Amino acid sequence: MTSRRKFIRRSSFGLLGAPLLPGLFQGNQEFRKLLDDPGQDPFEILRDELLLEPGLIYMNTATLGPTPKSIVDGVLDLTGKLEKNPAVMNWGELGKEMENTRDIIAQSVGCQKDEVLLTRNTTEGLSLVISQIDLKQGDEILTTNHEHGGGYLGPEYMVKHRGAIMKKMKLPLPVTSKQEILDLVEENLTDRTKVVLLSHVSTVDGLKMPLGEISQLTRPKGIFLLADGAQAPGQVEVNVKELGVDAYATSGHKWLLGPKETGYLYIRREKQSMFNPIFTHSGFQAYSASSGTRNAANIIGLGETIKMHDAIGFDRIGRRCLRLKGYCQDKLGDIRELKVISPTSDDLSCGIVSVDLLDKKNGEVATELKNRGIIVKLLPNYNALRFSCHIFNNEGDIDTLCENLDEILNS
Ligand SMILES: Cc1ncc(COP(=O)(O)O)c(C=O)c1O
Repeated sequence: MTSRRKFIRRSSFGLLGAPLLPGLFQGNQEFRKLLDDPGQDPFEILRDELLLEPGLIYMNTATLGPTPKSIVDGVLDLTGKLEKNPAVMNWGELGKEMENTRDIIAQSVGCQKDEVLLTRNTTEGLSLVISQIDLKQGDEILTTNHEHGGGYLGPEYMVKHRGAIMKKMKLPLPVTSKQEILDLVEENLTDRTKVVLLSHVSTVDGLKMPLGEISQLTRPKGIFLLADGAQAPGQVEVNVKELGVDAYATSGHKWLLGPKETGYLYIRREKQSMFNPIFTHSGFQAYSASSGTRNAANIIGLGETIKMHDAIGFDRIGRRCLRLKGYCQDKLGDIRELKVISPTSDDLSCGIVSVDLLDKKNGEVATELKNRGIIVKLLPNYNALRFSCHIFNNEGDIDTLCENLDEILNS
């Protein structure tokens, strides 16, 4: 497979990896120079760029990522420029660059600009898509028992207002093979299945869903494959064409480390005729009469963070997250009072590792960790905790997490 990095380098677009309009996005220049220096460790540079409280060990990017200082400064700087002459800037220089962000996104996930719509977050993207599918009484939406609340929202709405049926496949914990999932999907598809909604990366255990293989089951049957990508871009390489999805919704403010309230939605061109919400009545442009006014500075900041990932290397990021997750999993394996519930094989894994606590309550343990300056996520439907290993984390963070966890679980 041609790596996306090569694809980007060869493309005529050629903006990814280069500073965006030097002079416009000021905050990014020094940081980018360091990132581009082969003598530097990009992960340490990024770590130094974060605004996290000194000493804080942040292992909850899957909930909300920390945005690097240079991006925050760039966004603030753009906001300052906007405020000097709001209407002229917003529909002039900044407006043009905001529109360009769709191009940057398209290049980063292997699709065309006209297949990309800017949203505020994953939840909005998923809801926009599902509300446009012509579901009738008894039509089925196949999903899993491990989706996020934002993923269930659309199906629940369709159950209530259209009489659709939501079927939740029960996923094993941990999943041990791709085939296990493919069999489950195949067994649960029926003549009434109209939509399959799956997380690309699970919010519960970090399972990386084999969407490409699943699309080979759904597409021949004309079933709409909708991916919840909240947990993937920024830690996992994404190529929406290779995944074979009909739509893919994600957020910029998690693993991409982008400004808050940013996101995007991919809709495969062939499926766009069925997609006609009022929101895109005037088109998919960043600003249109139907989208209304946008926060240009934040959206441009999202484009910059995607370019930052490209400068480090999407494949390199994926490998680093996987390596840290493996390290974390091994260390956790030495603690007897818990059980790792994330998949262990690399093809099903990413930077997320979750554990089931065998004795102590997850809420109490998460609070005690927080009191000690370690931020993790408690999983509400299980007595479990989730740890996010992003590229800015390191082995030292994981050692400290595991030492403290061991101590708390044994106290
Ligand atoms: C799988 C998944 N989907 C959707 C969401 C919701 O994301 P947002 O709040 O950015 O819409 C999350 C948030 O954690 C998630 O993990």
